[in-house]
Amino acid sequence: MNRRKTVFTVVLIFLLALGCAGGAQKKIVVGFAQVGAESAWRTANTESIISEAKKRGIELKYVDGQQQQENQIKAIRSFIAQKVDVIGFSPVVTAGWDEVLREAKRAGIPVILTDRAVDCADDSLWVTFIGSDFVEEGRRAARWLAEKMDGKANIVELQGTIGSAPAIDRKIGFEEVIAGYPGMKIKKSQTGDFTRSMGKEVMEIFLKEEGRNIDALFAHNDDMAIGAVQAIEAYGLRPGIDIIIVSVDAIRAAFEAMIEGKLNCTVECNPLLGRQFFDAVEAIMAGEPIPKRIVVEEGVFPQDVAREVLPTRRY
Ligand code: AHR
Repeated sequence: MNRRKTVFTVVLIFLLALGCAGGAQKKIVVGFAQVGAESAWRTANTESIISEAKKRGIELKYVDGQQQQENQIKAIRSFIAQKVDVIGFSPVVTAGWDEVLREAKRAGIPVILTDRAVDCADDSLWVTFIGSDFVEEGRRAARWLAEKMDGKANIVELQGTIGSAPAIDRKIGFEEVIAGYPGMKIKKSQTGDFTRSMGKEVMEIFLKEEGRNIDALFAHNDDMAIGAVQAIEAYGLRPGIDIIIVSVDAIRAAFEAMIEGKLNCTVECNPLLGRQFFDAVEAIMAGEPIPKRIVVEEGVFPQDVAREVLPTRRY
């Protein structure tokens, strides 16, 4: 009996030693604090993160911030308490992250920003930022519109969430380009919080105030543009004809609206960041260097290519 016990103990010690020597790989644990579920873009982004973690056998602790910064900060603090290996998050707004990011740094947990940037002076608080160039997206929308309208248009603008990087930057890029066209004026600009329902609501207000003087709409995302289409139709105008519409994201619903002739152009913003995000996670875990900024490649899709492109769209 004693002999059997000794053999068992020796085998157990051997197996444990094997594990410590690297025979059993430690699973990577990642905490991810998402903005919310405000748009079709965001749903595709979340799906991309979750499915890529599953594919790579990485444990993902996922929290939906419901578009509230305090929820995201709470989630990040709980990831720190749980001692995750890497924290990823897409900040709902740019300001107000210094303190929690310093807490992550003190705990020795690397942070990756995805999709949206933060406004912090100390850039040692995150390892890399993976996402689109939102200023360029705004410029692309304006260039397309200026050409379409021959440099003359009364424009209304549906902004994204106030204080968020895409709302700030798309506005900057758009205004920068139209500044070169004295005939192009932004008549009204208000937030629609990146949602379809608010896009519709705010467009109703624009129509009430400006009536038939609106030539064009720039919406910071497709969901708000699609909401606005409903408001324009209810007002008795033809979206895509009486009011020319350009928006950002290039979701499938935007292509469907373009095929119906109700939207004129969508500027791509790619939400499929899962692969690049987990490449960065694995590089960090392996001690490999990664660039401080990883920009996603994107295009512009006007109405006339919608039918051909739709079958290739993944979100
Ligand atoms: O941060 C990316 C933006 O957030 C997308 O353009 C918008 O649809 C989303 O809600």
